[in-house]
Amino acid sequence: MLKAGVIGHPISHSKSPLIHGHWLELYGINGEYKTYDIAPENLERGINDLIADGLKGFNVTLPHKQNIMTLCDSLSDEARAIGAVNTVTITESGGLYGHNTDAFGFSQNLLETIPDFYWSEKIVTVIGAGGAARAVLYALQKNNCPEIRITNRTRESAEKIGLPYDAKIYDWDKRHESCQNAHLIINTTSLGMAGQPELEMNLSGMTNNAVVYDIVYNPLETNLLKQAHQKGAGCVTGIGMLLHQARPGFRGWFGVYPEVTENLRNILLKK
Ligand code: ATR
Repeated sequence: MLKAGVIGHPISHSKSPLIHGHWLELYGINGEYKTYDIAPENLERGINDLIADGLKGFNVTLPHKQNIMTLCDSLSDEARAIGAVNTVTITESGGLYGHNTDAFGFSQNLLETIPDFYWSEKIVTVIGAGGAARAVLYALQKNNCPEIRITNRTRESAEKIGLPYDAKIYDWDKRHESCQNAHLIINTTSLGMAGQPELEMNLSGMTNNAVVYDIVYNPLETNLLKQAHQKGAGCVTGIGMLLHQARPGFRGWFGVYPEVTENLRNILLKK
């Protein structure tokens, strides 16, 4: 039996078993995907146990996404640039290959919703400067977006994000201005998520035909997206990013490149 899973601490909230379990059943694969609760102080030992247990690999979630990097024998360009690993493949010899699929998930979700999105002509505003923002910025850079703006509550975090191009930084109290003439506006913060404060953002300056992308998926239509919808903008929800980022891992461990379907989307949203 092919085995994979997800490590984190805590881990019970993870949606990954639902996603991979659905695909294993759909494609009739003799495999399993389990959660592994590993405390930070036990990370190395916990991973050695997974290797000994014959796992093909695993997803990585909080709080291990950075610490796991030092235990990897090799890293993909994405993982290195983003500074975090969310997908690990265990090689034949028991080595760890660390990868980050969040940028892929971000782009695939956008292209699935807006297939003719033409990156290289876009002024893009990124709200937030945490881990998710790093993955988004990597994708924007890869797709040659000509102008990138970042606005974040803590300006220093935006300054330290350290990507190799000039992104213009807007102070948090000037964040509304960062949307002026923007073609794509992305919320990478947890604001607007159930239980979190709302994201207060005035979208009135964005271009006609702009696209607003919220990586939050609970609720699926955040207030930011409601506002965007009212203004006639294209709207991209966060659920597809979660689903698409899971695909490369599944292919690596189980040998089938899985599809993101409406059915799977609905299963996830009902949970
Ligand atoms: P993730 O890895 O999911 O991106 P993170 O690294 O903790 O999570 O980043 C969270 C982002 O949400 C940050 O940009 C954070 O802003 P700060 O850098 O100022 O902390 C932003 N954020 C979280 N709560 C916020 C709030 N109440 N108001 C404004 N921004 C907030």
